[in-house]
Amino acid sequence: MPFSIIRADITKVKADAIVNAANSSLLGGGGVDGAIHRAAGPGLLAECRTLGGCETGEAKATKGYDLGCKYIIHTVGPVWRGGSHGEKELLTSCYKNSLELARDKGCESIAFPLISAGVYGYPKTEAMSVAVGAIADFLADNDMDVTLVIFDKGSYAAGSKLMKDIAEYIDDSYAEARDDSRIRGLVGNAASVFRRKRAEKCAAKPAEPEAFFETEDAACEPAPAAMGAAMSLDAYLSAKDEGFSECLLGLIDRSGMTDAQVYRKANIDRKLFSKIRSDPNYKPKKQTALAFAIALELSLPETLSLLSKAGYTLSDSIKFDLIVKYFILNGRYNIFELNEALFAFDQSLIGC
Ligand code: AR6
Repeated sequence: MPFSIIRADITKVKADAIVNAANSSLLGGGGVDGAIHRAAGPGLLAECRTLGGCETGEAKATKGYDLGCKYIIHTVGPVWRGGSHGEKELLTSCYKNSLELARDKGCESIAFPLISAGVYGYPKTEAMSVAVGAIADFLADNDMDVTLVIFDKGSYAAGSKLMKDIAEYIDDSYAEARDDSRIRGLVGNAASVFRRKRAEKCAAKPAEPEAFFETEDAACEPAPAAMGAAMSLDAYLSAKDEGFSECLLGLIDRSGMTDAQVYRKANIDRKLFSKIRSDPNYKPKKQTALAFAIALELSLPETLSLLSKAGYTLSDSIKFDLIVKYFILNGRYNIFELNEALFAFDQSLIGC
C-alpha cells in the first residue's frame, strides 16, 4: 500500500528512510529524537555534529547506523503557538522536504513519526491532517511507500468536525439497523403465525389435489422468494456478465484518467495494478475493490455494482462499511482522508 498509517515504535519499522522529529541543533533530545539516537548509536550524533543544524521546515539526511535503514532524515517541526504563526505551512514543508530528499536519494520507502505532535505541542488531530495532506500531494506524482507511524494509544476519532460527523452517522445507522431488525423480528413473528395458520387451513382442506388447486387460494401457494433481498435497480441494471477486472478496466477507460492517475488515487501499488490489468480472473480483496470505487468517484449504487463483481457488498451494521459509505454519500473521494478516518476508528485501511 503506497500510504499507510500504523501504530508502532518507529525505531522498529523497516523502511529505506526513517524520519526524525529533531530540533534545530540536530544534537538530539527527548521523544522520538531520543529514541532514534538510542537505537542508531553514537555514530549518529557524531555525523549530526557536522551538519550545522537545520532550520524549521527543512530536512537533512544522515546514514542509518544501527537503526538498519539507509538514511535517517532529520526535520525540524514548528512549535505550536496557537496556529496563526505559519505552523501549518512549516509542518507541510517538513513532510514535503523530507519526501523529496528521500526520493532524490533513491529511497523507495519512508516512515514518519507525527512531527511536532509531542513536545512541540501541535494538536494531534490537526498534525495528522497536515501529514496526510502533504503525503497525499507527494504521492499524486511520485511512487513511494510512505508509512505514518503513530506511537501513542490515544483516540484520534474525537478530534475534528469530520470525525464527529462520521461518529454521528455511525451511531444513527446502528440505531436504524437495530430498529429495522426489531421490525424484522415483529414481521418474522407475524409471518410464522401466518405460516402456522396457513398450514392449519391447508391441512383442513379436502385431500384431493385438484380440489386443492381449484380453490386458487394464494395463501396455499408457495410463498414468493425473499423479495426484500432484491438488489437496487441501478446495481441490477448494470449487472452485466463480466468479471471484476473487465468491469474495472471498462470503468477506467470511461473515466478518462490514465492508469497511473487511477492507481495512485486508489492508493494501490503499481505492481498490483499491472497484475489486475493482465489477469482477467483477478479476485480483489474488498479493500482493493473499494479503493478503485473511491478513485473512480463511483456513486453508491455503482460502488455496490462493482463490489458485487467480486462477491462483496456494504452492510449498515459494520463500522468499516459505514465509514466508506459516509465518504461516498458525501462526495468525499480522497482516499487518504478516508484512510485517516478509518485509522481514527480503528479500522483497516483501504488500498493495497
Ligand atoms: N516512535 C514513533 N513515534 C514516537 C516515538 C517512537 N519511538 N516516540 C515518540 N513518538 P516528539 P516534536 C511520537 O516530542 O513534537 C525532541 O526533544 C510522539 O508520541 O518526539 O516534533 C526534539 O529534540 C509524538 O506524537 O517531537 C525536539 O526538541 C511524535 O512522535 C522536540 O522533541 C512527535 O513527538 C520535537 O518535538
